[in-house]
Amino acid sequence: MFSSSTFEGNLYNLSEQEPQRAPIGVFDSGVGGLTVLRQIYEQLPNESIIYLGDTARLPYGIRSQEEIIQFTREIIFWMESQGVKMVIMACSTSSALAIETVRSEFKVPILGLILPGAVTAVKAGKRIGVIATPATAKSNAYKLAIQEINSNALCWQVGCPEFVPLIEQNRIDDSYTFEVARSYLEPLLKQEIDTLVYGCTHYPHLSTLLRSLVGESVALVDPGKSVVEACAQELDLLGLKNTYPPLPTRFAVSGSPQQFAQSSVMWLGCTPMVESVNLEHLNINHLSQDNGGLISY
Ligand code: DGL
Repeated sequence: MFSSSTFEGNLYNLSEQEPQRAPIGVFDSGVGGLTVLRQIYEQLPNESIIYLGDTARLPYGIRSQEEIIQFTREIIFWMESQGVKMVIMACSTSSALAIETVRSEFKVPILGLILPGAVTAVKAGKRIGVIATPATAKSNAYKLAIQEINSNALCWQVGCPEFVPLIEQNRIDDSYTFEVARSYLEPLLKQEIDTLVYGCTHYPHLSTLLRSLVGESVALVDPGKSVVEACAQELDLLGLKNTYPPLPTRFAVSGSPQQFAQSSVMWLGCTPMVESVNLEHLNINHLSQDNGGLISY
């Protein structure tokens, strides 16, 4: 078990004395996780948040499982060192490919998008389309989760490699983005889906465009909403729900803070202050898993 807090010592007195006041760590490769952050602001307005965008290594969706596990590990290690009480993976790709591994390596509770999203999808319909990054689609994570909940549900997944770069570049209203979306949705519409799952947290940023393509009869499922509902239940269960006013959200990125501030302003409605973090210096390859949580370099 890795434990950065063992290593960091007694830095986070506030979190230790009043653990419910500690922040929740939320991460994604970029601006996708802001769709989950929006849900947290709506559903859990008292929670303080540390948001990390691993923008230096974006996009995740074309990476190998090994890389995604490694990046996720480095992020959760950093989150623990910041004294978070819980981590929400606001990234479906990490949720699909890394959650089991990192859950076994860290003490902090870690929530992912796949199961909450699948539960909501199965309630919404029986012919379920999932649009996702190539890595998530290839992992079959959503399909397996959906069919485990309801073996009669049909599920089709489409990898959409162009969406994340287009969204990160704020090309939401481009006619090119519309054409790309149409071609990704075509095979799903041919199957007459009744439900479409945003299998990547970037995609709710395209909700207006996607709605115009699928029509009013198809239910749109945002697993970000579902994971925040699950988070609220988990916080209650653990007695960790914050009842005090929250601290301002801290934003941190591994790439350019200026670029993130620019691309997130349209989703946040204001220009955030953004810190820079170096995740790679942790060099998790040098960590030993069988040393009782102590770290060796
Ligand atoms: N927004 C993330 C997801 O939900 C990552 C997308 C990417 O970086 O490819 O999968």
